[in-house]
Amino acid sequence: MSETPKFKVTIDNITIEVPAGTTILNAARMIGGDVTPPAMCYYSKLKESGGKCRTCLVEVSKGSEKDPRPMPKLVASCRTTVMDGMEVKNITSERVVDARKGVVEMLLINHPLDCPVCDQAGECDLQDLSYEHGSEGTRYEFDRRTFEKEDIGPYIQLHMTRCILCYRCVNTAKELTNRREHGILERGDHSEISTLLGKALDNEFIGNVIDVCPVGALTDKTFRFKNRVWFTKPMDAHRDCPTCSGKVRLWMRGDEVYRVTARKDQWNEVEEWICNECRFEKKETKDWVIEGPSKVSRTSVISQGHYVNTEKPHILIDKVIGKQPKLLMDIHAISEVNRPEIKLSEIEGPAHSDDFKDDVIK
Ligand code: SF4
Ligand code: FES
Repeated sequence: MSETPKFKVTIDNITIEVPAGTTILNAARMIGGDVTPPAMCYYSKLKESGGKCRTCLVEVSKGSEKDPRPMPKLVASCRTTVMDGMEVKNITSERVVDARKGVVEMLLINHPLDCPVCDQAGECDLQDLSYEHGSEGTRYEFDRRTFEKEDIGPYIQLHMTRCILCYRCVNTAKELTNRREHGILERGDHSEISTLLGKALDNEFIGNVIDVCPVGALTDKTFRFKNRVWFTKPMDAHRDCPTCSGKVRLWMRGDEVYRVTARKDQWNEVEEWICNECRFEKKETKDWVIEGPSKVSRTSVISQGHYVNTEKPHILIDKVIGKQPKLLMDIHAISEVNRPEIKLSEIEGPAHSDDFKDDVIK
């Protein structure tokens, strides 16, 4: 069998070799860090996804070695494959930064911004995206969309006003079940997720739609309003499950299991799909073999307060802009609050007064 040829692609001044057929987004993910465009609808674990939200737009400043002309419009990096010698600009392009701001504004036009009461707050991709690229105010003067409430089953709560129509849940249901479970009805700003015949989504893997939803449109009814995610501790655990791999993440407080989800990777994507029984019905520590604190490998509010197993963010900004950014500073150079010899990220559990200088905390 002949080997897949390799193509050289440069993204934000960093060059990498990737197999032909790789999308720009996946090539950027191989580099990692700030070079990676955000993705609100693409999901690498699904056969079909992407091309809906436009958050992953990038500028192709050189098409390829053979045809170096730039692409006239910004392209969706999740749907565009690399060419040999291609040059791409993500955060180094003013056009991209400006377009992304516009996309975020568009996604937020109809969003209720009810983060203070939303269960997804703290782990919401839209919240992170707005924090990075959103504007403070809104120019929108009309009433936001409202919908008739629809009950889509005993386990999953649908908040249609929060939906960004990314199609991830529809594609997940289509791929994990034998029949189509739900879909998007109507067009334009009337579009809505529905079970079509008003039927509950009762497939034994359907709970996974909660994990793939990038916003709080689909949430877990067994966890609703019980706790804020940043107050719970993620722990990896497993059980001998006849339906799925049984490898999950428990969200605990003390000995109480508040929520069970699939384990997620650094792109906030599910590693292995889990069944409804593991997710909704096994809420006691005795149901699980606890492996230990989960590795938090994405920069998120969830990593706050977890001093073990938190991976440092992958920072490549110096390579992107050709110099060290001025914003990064050594806190010890300007502050005497904590002792430099104590690495706060390496102490187990929360920091105590002993870890700080006596004369400062008095
Ligand atoms: S409910 Fe969530 S996953 Fe489904 S289309 Fe809306 S935002 Fe996407
Ligand atoms: S992630 Fe590419 S269009 Fe949504």
